[in-house]
Amino acid sequence: MVSEKMYELGTKKSTIRTIFEFGRKRAAEVGEENIFDFSLGNPNVPTPEFVRQAAMDILADMEPSAVHGYTIAPGNPEVREILAKSINERFGTNFAGKNLFLTAGAAAALTISFKALCEEGDEFIAFAPFFPEYRCFVESVGGKLVVVPAQPEDFQIDFAAFEKCLTPRTKAVIVNSPNNPSGAIYSEATIERLTELLALKEKEYGHPIFIISDEPYREIAFDGYPVPYVTKYYANTLVCYSYSKSFSLPGERIGYIVVPDEVSDFGKVYGAVAGAARVLTHVNAPSLWQLVVGRCAGKPSDISTYVKNGQMLYQGLIAAGFTCVKPQGAFYLFPKALEADDYAFCERAKKYDLLLVPGTDFGCPGYFRVAYCIKTETIERALPLFKKLAAEYLSFA
Ligand SMILES: Cc1ncc(COP(=O)(O)O)c(C=O)c1O
Repeated sequence: MVSEKMYELGTKKSTIRTIFEFGRKRAAEVGEENIFDFSLGNPNVPTPEFVRQAAMDILADMEPSAVHGYTIAPGNPEVREILAKSINERFGTNFAGKNLFLTAGAAAALTISFKALCEEGDEFIAFAPFFPEYRCFVESVGGKLVVVPAQPEDFQIDFAAFEKCLTPRTKAVIVNSPNNPSGAIYSEATIERLTELLALKEKEYGHPIFIISDEPYREIAFDGYPVPYVTKYYANTLVCYSYSKSFSLPGERIGYIVVPDEVSDFGKVYGAVAGAARVLTHVNAPSLWQLVVGRCAGKPSDISTYVKNGQMLYQGLIAAGFTCVKPQGAFYLFPKALEADDYAFCERAKKYDLLLVPGTDFGCPGYFRVAYCIKTETIERALPLFKKLAAEYLSFA
């Protein structure tokens, strides 16, 4: 009667959602302040005042039909020009408005990109740990997600494992740096090695292999750590960008895809992006927010809270006896669980009302994710609880 697959996707709650709902229930019982919910990647830094002001100015000054009417499918041409210029100024690229397709956030950008590229039997590679939605996005367009196991020492790429995953059916490789959930940023050496290998494989297989660079956390990089702009290293790159995290706008659904001139057969790829957006009904990203991001192009993100939270949590967890790769960006930590079964570990953490997400959900069993886009004061109060949790395990070690 209905698609069983869609029914399953719509009714089977994700682990993150289940944990979040558990948190709401516990908060009603023991009080909001006694719940330490590290489960969601919902930015807690307020939306910058310049963004809100831009929205108010647009609403006050512009004709309603110019603000709320349809734009052309790829988005307002002027805004795309402004955004392209801003990317060029920051990263030394050479884009024009015609290289951008505005979307309802990174989720839409990714799904459109997968749909645009996917032919029967195609494979898309993700590096563990990875954003769990990749699987349902890729499968929804008929592709197969192939997962490269993690390199847990630094969460860069395990190239030996990666090479084994490449086949003539490989259509694209998903890169997410700064990474959700590890907080790692791929170094220039990693990007160079990745792109050199892909260039060789393109030759060997005789067809393009794309990189889909998923970049909602591009601006959240600590200590000036550089985040290489992948199109500068590899021609067949599509960039999926979002303002959800950089401007704390996740509810407004705004972002874009960059299709550089240098991709193999630009007209064909951009055309397929437009076609995929059409059938997925993702044409015309929210009109007001197109205008807002156009006015705010190139303005800075405030990452000071994430820097402070990340340092405090990392140091606190290490002091409590956890092992964890130091985060370089985004707002997540991905420590090793203190027992092999990460689900059992996260269940035990609930005893202290610490809500953590098992690493298995990110394709990386034996770890757990801590989202620290929450109040600093909550982290301060949570650290002694992490210590108690660790002591339960370490006293037997
Ligand atoms: C790695 C990654 N990609 C994509 C998305 C989707 O972001 P958006 O809100 O722009 O759809 C998220 C959201 O958390 C994410 O963490």
